[in-house]
Amino acid sequence: MTETILSPMSLLAELTHRCPLQCPYCSNPLALEPRQNELSTAEWISVLDQAAEMGVLQVHFSGGEPMSRPDLPELIRHAVGLGLYTNLITSGVLLNEKTFPALVEAGLDHVQLSFQDIDTANAELVGGMKGAQARKIEAARLVAADGMPLTLNFVIYRENAARVPQMLEAAVQMGARRVEIAHTQYYGWGLANREALMPTAAQLEQTTEAVEAARKKYEGRLTIDYVTPDYYADRPKPCMGGWGRRFINISPSGRVLPCHAAETIPNVAFPDVKHDTLDHIWREAPLFTMFRGTDWMPQPCRSCDQREKDWGGCRCQALALAGDAAATDPVCARAPDHERVKAVLDTLPAEPPPFRYRRYARATDEVG
Ligand code: FES
Repeated sequence: MTETILSPMSLLAELTHRCPLQCPYCSNPLALEPRQNELSTAEWISVLDQAAEMGVLQVHFSGGEPMSRPDLPELIRHAVGLGLYTNLITSGVLLNEKTFPALVEAGLDHVQLSFQDIDTANAELVGGMKGAQARKIEAARLVAADGMPLTLNFVIYRENAARVPQMLEAAVQMGARRVEIAHTQYYGWGLANREALMPTAAQLEQTTEAVEAARKKYEGRLTIDYVTPDYYADRPKPCMGGWGRRFINISPSGRVLPCHAAETIPNVAFPDVKHDTLDHIWREAPLFTMFRGTDWMPQPCRSCDQREKDWGGCRCQALALAGDAAATDPVCARAPDHERVKAVLDTLPAEPPPFRYRRYARATDEVG
C-alpha cells in the first residue's frame, strides 16, 4: 500500500542544547551539540521559510533553553510574519523584565513554562540551579500580567508525585490557563535515571486521583493535560501522531528528525538542512520513510485494528526496550517483549538511587 504523505503541521525548533539547568530527566540526547555547531540566524530563518511553504502551522521554539539564543526575538518575529503560531518552551530562568518585552514586541503567541517541582528546595536540587524557582515564578507573573496565554509544565517523578495537588493550586495562582502534569518520559538522560524517576503503581494511582479531583475543582478556570508513564499502560501511545506524519524536529545543528529522540536510531543517515531542502527530506529521506504509515509494521501490529490509531507506538522506546526500533512497542500488552516492561516495574528499588546528572556549560547569554 502506498502511504499518503501529509504536510507537517508542527515544527519543533531546538535552537540550542545549552541550558542553565541540568534536569536528570532531560530527554535531549546524551551527547549534546556544542554552541559552535548551532545553526546561524540566517539558517534558522531559511528553515522557517521552508516550513511555512510546506504548510506547517505552529513552531515551538525549544532547547535546551531557547532564551540562551540572543536572536530568539528575531526568529519569533520572522515566524509571526510568515503566519506561524509561535510557542516558546522555556525553563523561564532567563525570562525577566529585561528580556520579555522583546518577545512580546516580536509577536510571541504563547509561553510554556516548565517547573521541576512546587517545593523550592527539591526543584532547585533537581534542576541544579540555586534561585531558579523565584525566577520561574517571576517569569510566570510577567507572562500572565501581559495577558499572553501561559501553560505550566510540571514533570512528575517519584520524588514529587505526592505534590500534584499543590502544583495545580499554584498553577491557578500563577494565572496559567493550562497545565501539563506530565510523568517523565524515558528517553535520553531520563532513561539513564529511570530507576530514580519511575513512580510506583500506588503513586501513579494517587496522581491520577489528584488530577481527576482538580479537574472538577478548577473546571472552567484551568485545563489540565495529564500524561501518564508509558510503562504502566497496556496500549502504546501514538508517538508524534505517527512517524513522519505531522511533526518535524530540527536539532540545534540542523538535523531533521521525526522526533526528538530519533538520533538513537542506528544504521540510517541523518539528513540536515545544510545539505538538503526540508521538503525533500520530509518526502524522501530514509529516516522519514522507514516507519511512515503501516507497511513497515511487524505482527501483531500489522493485523491490529489499532494500527492507524497508535501507529505502532514509539520507535525510540522499542529500540530502548527491545533493542530494535522496528519491533512492536514493548509497552503494548500484545508485544512479544512486553515482559521487559513488567520486569522494569517489578524490580524498582524500594529506595530510589541518587540522580545521575549531566554536566554541561551553563548558558550565560540572554536575549535583549
Ligand atoms: Fe521517537 Fe517516540 S520518541 S518515536
